[in-house]
Amino acid sequence: MTLDPATYDALSALLGDRFSIRAADRDHHAGHETHHTPQPPDAVVWPVSTEEVAEVVRICTAARVPVIAHGLGSSLEAHVAALRGGVSIDMMRMDRLLRISPDDLDCTVEAGITREALNAQLRDTGLFFPVDPGANATIGGMSATRASGTSAVRYGTMAENVLNLTVVTPQGEVIRTGRRARKSSAGYDLTHLYLGSEGTLGIITEVTLRLHGRPEEVLAAVCTFPGPAEASRTAIEAIQCGLTPGRVEYMDAGAVAAVNAFSGLAETVADTLFVELAGSTAEVEAQVELFRSLAEANGCSGFRWARAEEERNRLWKARHSAYNATLALRPGSRGWPTDVCVPIGALADCIVHAKALLADCPVPYAIMGHVGDGNFHVVFAIDPENPADEAVVTAINSAMVEKALSVDGTCTGEHGVGIGKQKYMAAEHGPALAVMRRLKAALDPEDLFNPGKILPPP
Ligand code: LAC
Ligand code: ZN
Repeated sequence: MTLDPATYDALSALLGDRFSIRAADRDHHAGHETHHTPQPPDAVVWPVSTEEVAEVVRICTAARVPVIAHGLGSSLEAHVAALRGGVSIDMMRMDRLLRISPDDLDCTVEAGITREALNAQLRDTGLFFPVDPGANATIGGMSATRASGTSAVRYGTMAENVLNLTVVTPQGEVIRTGRRARKSSAGYDLTHLYLGSEGTLGIITEVTLRLHGRPEEVLAAVCTFPGPAEASRTAIEAIQCGLTPGRVEYMDAGAVAAVNAFSGLAETVADTLFVELAGSTAEVEAQVELFRSLAEANGCSGFRWARAEEERNRLWKARHSAYNATLALRPGSRGWPTDVCVPIGALADCIVHAKALLADCPVPYAIMGHVGDGNFHVVFAIDPENPADEAVVTAINSAMVEKALSVDGTCTGEHGVGIGKQKYMAAEHGPALAVMRRLKAALDPEDLFNPGKILPPP
C-alpha cells in the first residue's frame, strides 16, 4: 500500500520536511529489534506538538490510513511494525520536560523524551524517575507498553508511576486521562486503560510522572548460588523479610559468561544475583548484612558488594547489556526473548521448569530475570535463516507460558504483546478477551490505530 495523493499532499503541506516517504526513513520505522519480520510504514512524520499529532490523526483517519506511534523503537515484540502500512508517527522531536514540581514530586514531559534525558534534566533537583527497562526508551513508548525493568521491585512499573496522560484519540480529540492528584475515584481509570495499550487505542503525547527522592546511599551486591532455585529463593525471602532492594536481578551462568565477555567483567560464572540496596547509610549496612545472611543460608558461595558509583554503574550497565551480550554469543543472530511473570512464590519452580525445557536446546540462550517481580526472560539468539530455531524456541516459550498460566502468571510481564504474545491472549484472558475486543471496536471502530497488535485475529 502507498499513500493516496490527497493524504500525501495534506501531510506534506502540514509538516514540510518533517514528512518523509524515503525508503531509509520508512525502513528505520519497521521494527527491527527482534526476530519478527520488519514491516515499514508508507510514510514517517515527526510532529512537534500534540496539536500536530491530532492533525496528522485527523488527516489519516479521514482517508482510513493506519497510524503507528513510534518512540525509540526498542520494543521487543514488533509493536511498531506497520502491518498494514500507513503512517509512523515518530515522537522523538517531542522531547521536552514541560514542567516539574519538586514539592509535588511530579513532572510532565512530552512523550518523546528518553528516560536518561529526563534524569539528566532532573539531576539538580535531588529527584529522579526510576523506571528502567534497560534501553534508553522514550517515556511515551514505556507508557504505551507499560514497561518496567530492573527497578520495579522497589518503585513499581509505569502503571504505578504515571499520574496522567495526554492522548490523541482515533477521533482526533485531545484528552487528559487524569489530574495531578495522587489518587482519584472520579470515574473510569482511562490512564490505566491507555498504559499498555500499545498505540491501539490512542497516541500518548504527554505524560505526568511521579518522581522519587534519590537515596542517600546505594550499594550493589553480587552473590553466586549453587542453582537458580537458591538464587530466586533468596530474592523472595529478602522481600518477605521487609527488605526493599532497589533491584534484584538474576542471571544464570550463561548470562554471566555472556556479560563477562561483552562488558569486560570477571564475575564468577554461576547462577548469580545482582542486588541494589539503598537508603540511609545506617540502613544500607543493615540491609547488606541481612541480605548476606539470607544468601548464605541458601548456599551462597560468593558475596561481595560495591559502594563506588563507578563500579555500580559498570555492573548495571553490564546487566542492561545482557540482551545484546547474549546475541553476541552468535554473530548474525536475532533476539527472541521470553517474558513470563508469575506470583513470586512460584518463581523458583518456574525457572527450574524452564531449565529442564532448555536441557538439550540447540539454540544459544541466556536466562535473566527481575526476580523480585517474579519476571524472567530466556533470551535466545536465533539464526534468522534457520526456521528450525524459531520452531524450537516457540515450543519452549509455549511450555513456559503454559506453566506460568497454570500458577496464575502472565505470558508477558513487561515486554507487551505486540505480535509475539497474541497467541496466548485467549488462554490468559478467557472471556475478558471479548471485552478487550469490544473496547477496541468502541474506541477505534475503523481499526486504524496500530492495527494487528495485541488482539489476535478473531
Ligand atoms: C532485560 C530485557 C530483555 O531484562 O527485558 O534485559
Ligand atoms: Zn527485562
